[in-house]
Amino acid sequence: MKLLVVGSGGREHAIAKKLLASPQVEQVFVAPGNDGMILDGLDLVDIGISEHSKLIDFAKANDIAWAFIGPDDALAAGIVDDFNKAGLKAFGPTRLAAELEWSKDFAKGIMAKYGIPTAAYATFSNFEKAKVYIEEQGAPIVIKADGLALGKGVVVAETMEQAVEAAQEMLLDNKFGDSGARVVIEEFLDGEEFSLFAFVNGDKFYMMPTAQDHKRAYDGDKGPNTGGMGAYAPVPQLSQSVVDKSVDTIVKPVLEGMLKEGRPYLGVLYAGLILTADGPKVIEFNSRFGDPETQIILPRLTSDFAQNIADILEGKEPDITWTDGGVTLGVVVASNGYPLAYEKGVLLPEKTEGDIITYYAGAKFAENGKALLSNGGRVYMLVTTADSVQAAQERIYDQLDKQATAGLFYRTDIGSKAL
Ligand code: AMP
Ligand code: GLY
Repeated sequence: MKLLVVGSGGREHAIAKKLLASPQVEQVFVAPGNDGMILDGLDLVDIGISEHSKLIDFAKANDIAWAFIGPDDALAAGIVDDFNKAGLKAFGPTRLAAELEWSKDFAKGIMAKYGIPTAAYATFSNFEKAKVYIEEQGAPIVIKADGLALGKGVVVAETMEQAVEAAQEMLLDNKFGDSGARVVIEEFLDGEEFSLFAFVNGDKFYMMPTAQDHKRAYDGDKGPNTGGMGAYAPVPQLSQSVVDKSVDTIVKPVLEGMLKEGRPYLGVLYAGLILTADGPKVIEFNSRFGDPETQIILPRLTSDFAQNIADILEGKEPDITWTDGGVTLGVVVASNGYPLAYEKGVLLPEKTEGDIITYYAGAKFAENGKALLSNGGRVYMLVTTADSVQAAQERIYDQLDKQATAGLFYRTDIGSKAL
């Protein structure tokens, strides 16, 4: 069987590598992928994620059994709808089902309608009205661009001035273009954040291990929000009863709600949650796997990933199994300056072997040779599975100490909330 993964980051590297590990899979193509993936035997296809008809032609010409779609913007652009119209299977939600991620206002509406716990909110497209609401509510308060903004469209404002400024940047100054033409203004929630992922077909879902991302750029959750600087799974400080409650009050009702709305969900559902004093509440839904969470969740899958996805696509019961021992932890290495401007072309250390996996995100071969150079904000990630968070941290940080990482940086406290 030949498969296609759409996307180019560390998430897609982890998905493609796990699919290729399946005995029945002979070849995995990644479009467009990144050069680091070649070191793991993956085949790159030079087609961008928005070129649906070229991707469809490629899939037909190469006998692709099905495609796995990584990125949110591809899903929001209706890539799954287009594949299906062309008679091809793709794992991911349709454009209408993916609206859970690409419109925060839509997601809030679904949560309100189906009684799913989340922050109180109001949506505005008029700046003056937004300002009045902010002044009524007071700070802290959270301002979110309605549409996709690469994880950067959220401002947690500590003061009213910051909140008004954020609303002004989105509604008047067009900082996020169309994505910020409407803003969702939300109550600030306090508590520990965690992520729940499920493989879904309709109202059937299969939970993955709990995970925790680290979104801020620097140690101690300081600095700007990023796509994610490291993660670990499972999260030992989350009790099974919190997980069960999250599934019963959040995952189950949202999927049932989407069915009732005529938008049956197929793919990975990502619930970004916060454990408040009143129990787990939703921060956001995403319509795809997380990055970097995929890179620490998939190594724990012990069943045949390609078979599992094929079964879900066909509406069969998949036989999904996970390792229950230890913790899988990963640290992202990023270009100095990320998430703002950064330089490319830094020489990368050798790919690790043995019990540390290297997943590449922004990597490119030098023009005259096989040396890998940095080519993005997030560059690569080291992942390991060990008996404890502490043991995993020691192994990864020992390795990073040995690597030449000039021009690059990483957080030194990934997983420390679990200690
Ligand atoms: P999002 O892009 O929606 O995941 O938001 C980015 C980050 O902003 C989250 O990971 C939280 O740390 C923070 N955040 C978002 N919404 C809230 C909220 N209602 N209360 C507190 N923090 C929030
Ligand atoms: N890890 C955050 C995200 O994938 O959105």
